[in-house]
Amino acid sequence: MKQDLSEYRKSYEKSELLEENCVENPIEMFRNWFMEVERSETVAEVNAMTISTIGLDGFPKSRIVLLKKYTYEGFIFYTNYESEKGLAIAENPNVCISFFWPAMERQIIIKGSIEKIAENLSDGYFESRPRGSQLGALVSYQSTVIPSREHLEEKLKNLEAQYEGKEIERPSHWGGYIVKPQEIEFWQGRANRLHDRMRYQLQEDYSWKIERLAP
Ligand SMILES: Cc1cc2nc3c(=O)[nH]c(=O)nc-3n(C[C@H](O)[C@H](O)[C@H](O)COP(=O)(O)O)c2cc1C
Repeated sequence: MKQDLSEYRKSYEKSELLEENCVENPIEMFRNWFMEVERSETVAEVNAMTISTIGLDGFPKSRIVLLKKYTYEGFIFYTNYESEKGLAIAENPNVCISFFWPAMERQIIIKGSIEKIAENLSDGYFESRPRGSQLGALVSYQSTVIPSREHLEEKLKNLEAQYEGKEIERPSHWGGYIVKPQEIEFWQGRANRLHDRMRYQLQEDYSWKIERLAP
């Protein structure tokens, strides 16, 4: 089988990213871009982001998770602390998250260190989830090998019966992480492959150094 994709070509002409558009704080920059993408209603899951970790096997691995909150401190998502990514993070807290919003021809790449959020914050978010998702967190030992789909469905049925009429508490293996950024790059596609790339790097005095990178 031969699948030649060399003719796939696109010219990026939607927007530009100039020095004068770069506000001092990259989280504000992130918010500006995020809100623009949201308003454009062109991206189905604007909060879907790729998170890459360095695994216990030494390989990087990337997967999508959903951004649930961002503040000046960082970017928060929820997962299973004992999943493959959870174990990787416990060993190496240096991670990379990235967003690709094709309709706006934009990419954001964030390097940072990750840590668990406070338990009461995870509790609060867990409580706000629909019951089905709460049970899902209990059912699934994320990233472990299971014998079949039926095994999962059987487990869900048993848990539904067990918790009927009862409140479901957050299992300790499930909760939030916050990625605290050290470097954030904003990429805006431009014509003739002369894309705009602006990189923010956190300095020792907590200010951000802003530089343009070659595309
Ligand atoms: C659109 C989308 C959203 C997802 N959101 C999450 C999420 O918020 N948290 C999560 O743990 N997994 C989420 N997943 C599943 C992950 O991509 C991944 O399969 C899972 O976290 C297990 O990864 P790991 O085995 O590398 O730890 C999502 C997948 C997709 C495609």
